[in-house]
Amino acid sequence: MSRLQHFGWFLARGFGPHGWGAPALEWDYRWTAPDLYQESARTLEQAGFDLLLIEDAPSLGSPETIDLRVRQAFGGPKHDPLLLAPYLFQATRHLGIVPTVNPAAYLPYTAARQFATLQHLSEDRLGLNVVTDTGSARHFGDAPQLGHDQAYDRAEEWLAGLRELWSSWDEGALIADPARGRYADGSRLRAVRHRGDHFAFDGPLNALPFGDGGEPVIASPGGSGRGLAFAGANSDIQLALSPMDERSVRDYRARIHDAARARGRRPEDIRILFALQPVIVASAEEADRIVARSADPDDATVRQIAEKQSSDLETDLTALDPDRPLDLSVFGPHVSQGSIRRLVGHHDVATTPLRVLLGGLARAGRLSDRSGFVGTADEFADYIEELGEWGNDGILLWGDLHPVTVHRTLDELVPILRRRGILRSEHVPGGLRANLRAF
Ligand SMILES: Cc1cc2nc3c(=O)[nH]c(=O)nc-3n(C[C@H](O)[C@H](O)[C@H](O)COP(=O)(O)O)c2cc1C
Repeated sequence: MSRLQHFGWFLARGFGPHGWGAPALEWDYRWTAPDLYQESARTLEQAGFDLLLIEDAPSLGSPETIDLRVRQAFGGPKHDPLLLAPYLFQATRHLGIVPTVNPAAYLPYTAARQFATLQHLSEDRLGLNVVTDTGSARHFGDAPQLGHDQAYDRAEEWLAGLRELWSSWDEGALIADPARGRYADGSRLRAVRHRGDHFAFDGPLNALPFGDGGEPVIASPGGSGRGLAFAGANSDIQLALSPMDERSVRDYRARIHDAARARGRRPEDIRILFALQPVIVASAEEADRIVARSADPDDATVRQIAEKQSSDLETDLTALDPDRPLDLSVFGPHVSQGSIRRLVGHHDVATTPLRVLLGGLARAGRLSDRSGFVGTADEFADYIEELGEWGNDGILLWGDLHPVTVHRTLDELVPILRRRGILRSEHVPGGLRANLRAF
């Protein structure tokens, strides 16, 4: 039996020159102007998507390796997705917009006020993807760089502070009745006084309390134990890379649901969206061809992967001999161990040439045998339908936010998902939270 699922789009390279170097750029959109995103956002809304999530990282990383981040535009520049949000709200009526925010970058009072403003302006369609990247702390004052778990502690304190401020207008504080000659009752505004481990601020908040749509939707993408605990306590949406098999899907869902219960919440308070980057092709033969070709990548492809990895790992892999094994001591202590593990994969790093490790990242797999995400629209619909049978709440499709990419991905898939009763054909009134809770 098919069941409805929620759909989102993930602009995975942030608000920057995503797709740089690709032929679609010849369409002459400017990434710095809103039109590109507005056109795509309208298409996503028309398709029945609930939300658009925009990746962000506020920093260009280590000062010594900035060129690696910017020379192919893999790691920057990035403009602030929070400031793109109003343009997208104006272009749409139902689509939720979920920019990424880092608690290190905003004082709680500023954040509470700005997000409240956007929630009102958008008629309750704001979401916030809360991330805890620790490396960018040096851009935001002289606070010391926190460890991994401490950054989550700070994020929890920050969010609790926002919620304290958002609820500082008690029931009845807003009157707005010209007949009584009163706009508000100041005696019903609570004097918040927060003195915590990471923040100190006073309230009440100088912004109106929320309407029926409630506060902005909170999303979180952390995959560590501490990240899952954060989601259980705080999130309306949890994001994770899409697993392929029933056991992994059910196990992951159970972990999030346990984390919610542990913090006194209900499993149904959290929607879990699995992210995947689809390559949708016209025929099974074309899919087979792409997969076969990816097993033996040419030099240009390996070079491009080396550029991207150099940006992500902040280490110049293009300067190393590709025919020699990779010496792991090239990576500084700040480099993510998870990213190094992904590069090495199942290979013996002592004997495998770097070229083979990089080539491994080019390898695509067929959706039909669950080895990857290359497939036809029907095969994608089969997979998404199967996820639904395993209890899945929704899918986050990931790619550039360009009309060409969006249409290439959705043109065939949307009608199939609709016919099968997996994708909504109408939004409900009331904003992002109402649409997430509609099923
Ligand atoms: C779908 C998805 C979206 C993500 N978006 C971001 C992002 O915009 N910015 C960021 O710094 N990390 C993002 N991440 C999370 C990081 O990959 C990383 O998991 C997290 O910041 C570190 O927390 P953890 O140690 O709990 O996993 C995303 C992860 C997923 C799966």
